[in-house]
Amino acid sequence: MIGRLNHVAIVVPDLKAAADVYRNTLGAKVTAEEDQPDHGVTTVFIDLPNTKIELLGVLGDKSPITAFLERNPNGGIHHLCYEVPDIKAARDKWVEQGARVLGEPKIGAHGKPVLFLHPKDFCGTLVELEEA
Ligand code: CO
Repeated sequence: MIGRLNHVAIVVPDLKAAADVYRNTLGAKVTAEEDQPDHGVTTVFIDLPNTKIELLGVLGDKSPITAFLERNPNGGIHHLCYEVPDIKAARDKWVEQGARVLGEPKIGAHGKPVLFLHPKDFCGTLVELEEA
């Protein structure tokens, strides 16, 4: 069973400009940029009282978000991340129910294991699980 909404991720064409919108226009607390070479993205997190927003920028030539940006040149919502207590148990249960899981758990932006679930099986939305 899923728990808290850990974050909503937004792909952006210009990470600095997007961080400025959240920092200056919306007045939110914005973290420094961090490269995530294992995931092909650079991340910035916006801390909100009840959840986080993850801004994703392209890192390298094999970034998994390049195609998304080609389809959505202004950026857009990319995935939702839910917390689960045991990521492997959650995966095994959903795979058994026929859900498509994308790859093996990897260490994500918060130093915890993450895993992605196919949007075709989850209401048209890419779902990230984070062990919490
Ligand atoms: Co994420």
